Amino acid sequence: MNISVSAEKIGGSSNFRFSTDKKVIELGKNLINNLISSMKVAQIYDSNNKVFQEHLKGFDDNLREIFRSEGEAVINVTANHIFFNKHRLPMDFASYHTFHSLMDGFLGSEIGEVGFEESITREELTRFVFVFSKSLGDPSKSLEDIEEELEGQGVVRVRLQEPRGGAEDIQGTSNLRKVGKQMYTKSIMLLKETVGDAPSPRKVQTRLVRKLVQNIIDAVIVDETYMLALTNIKNHYDYTLNHSLNVCVLSTALGYRMGMERKRLSDLGMAALFHDIGKIFIPEEILTKPAKLTDEEFEIMKNHPIKGAEMLTQIKRFRKLPVRAIVASLEHHRGIDQSGYPRLFFKKELNLFSKIIAIADVFDAMTTPRIYQKTPFKRDEALGMMMKASGTKFDPLLLKAFINMVGVYPIGCVVLLNTGELAVVMEANQDPDYCQYPKVKLITEKTGKKIDGPLINLAHPASDGTQRFIVKTVDPFKYGIDVTDYF
Ligand SMILES: [Fe+2]
Ligand SMILES: [Fe+2]
Repeated sequence: MNISVSAEKIGGSSNFRFSTDKKVIELGKNLINNLISSMKVAQIYDSNNKVFQEHLKGFDDNLREIFRSEGEAVINVTANHIFFNKHRLPMDFASYHTFHSLMDGFLGSEIGEVGFEESITREELTRFVFVFSKSLGDPSKSLEDIEEELEGQGVVRVRLQEPRGGAEDIQGTSNLRKVGKQMYTKSIMLLKETVGDAPSPRKVQTRLVRKLVQNIIDAVIVDETYMLALTNIKNHYDYTLNHSLNVCVLSTALGYRMGMERKRLSDLGMAALFHDIGKIFIPEEILTKPAKLTDEEFEIMKNHPIKGAEMLTQIKRFRKLPVRAIVASLEHHRGIDQSGYPRLFFKKELNLFSKIIAIADVFDAMTTPRIYQKTPFKRDEALGMMMKASGTKFDPLLLKAFINMVGVYPIGCVVLLNTGELAVVMEANQDPDYCQYPKVKLITEKTGKKIDGPLINLAHPASDGTQRFIVKTVDPFKYGIDVTDYF
């Protein structure tokens, strides 16, 4: 099943698609792996070597299969994604490094597209692999240089194109973003109409909400970065609705990164949107109390998961809400060690939806200003505290993937180092295990004197042996820093 997104549904001009077709994704991923492994082997062996020939055979067979079932074989690369025949390939832990090395190589050579023609022979493919393995990512070679080399080697059935991003595409992206933002605001209004003031399950229009979730998923797939940025819109007057929508965006984005299929993503989105629906039964004065809750009040607050699950069960009777949505409402405060609330008579491993939603829920709550917490936690503080509960409250693998997705230290944020120096984050560490160690540019000495310092990879000690690490993020305005100066 293929679902066209962005074009009509959310207003953009791009015709890239999201595919839930496992076969297409597998063919695409194989193509990427075959291309990379053949190029790597070509750097070591010559074309007559048996090892190289085996790899090339795999590549060639893969291409033939693609032409048979798909009719064409085109790879597109953008700064964030790889597309195969215009289907965006989901990135998981296993493919993370391969994908990123290919993205870096393509974009380093200003190549945005490689298309293979069906009539390409194995000999021509061999010559293509050798030219590509020598030139891809070489900053001294332009797209034209590589094209010339390919032509010189008689490779004429591989087509190269520059990255997308001409005027038309930029226009498309900004349209998409505008519509994305409108959709986000509209979603809150729709939620308010459908669930906000409706304590009766009969009034909850799940069909409309399901449609909303579909739109959110479409937008997350097309422009994840932008949708994640939208979750920074924090409106504490409509806290529960705004929070529910943010949890929905964050959860579906994580689910998508974990390779979930569209139907499950849609169920996950529904579950996330409804995770706090039980709060409509909690008295307003407790929900909006501008101070810490008393023990008694907290006991009442702790009822919201059960109340929510009860309400969703009633909805399910006539609206077919997935069971997992009900379970997630019940479980989202329980923690993977079952130490949270509500206390249940049985211990059962948390549902995957509950584990994902619990992470998105706590992150959004901690980073949002509330009546009783006017200054919210910064995202690195929040993620740092959540890391401490990895394995007890949160699933460690999911938490790691989540941190990698939202970014502890997003590009452009200003950080204080253990040395007293300030630095700007220039590049995220591609390895999820080392996401706390990005590449930074030093911008002040420890005395505070501004400098045009070097780029430093925090994953390694400096040449003089200094091991720098990030102590905290700081507000650039306080230091009179304009981060755009450094980009
Ligand atoms: Fe909750
Ligand atoms: Fe929540």
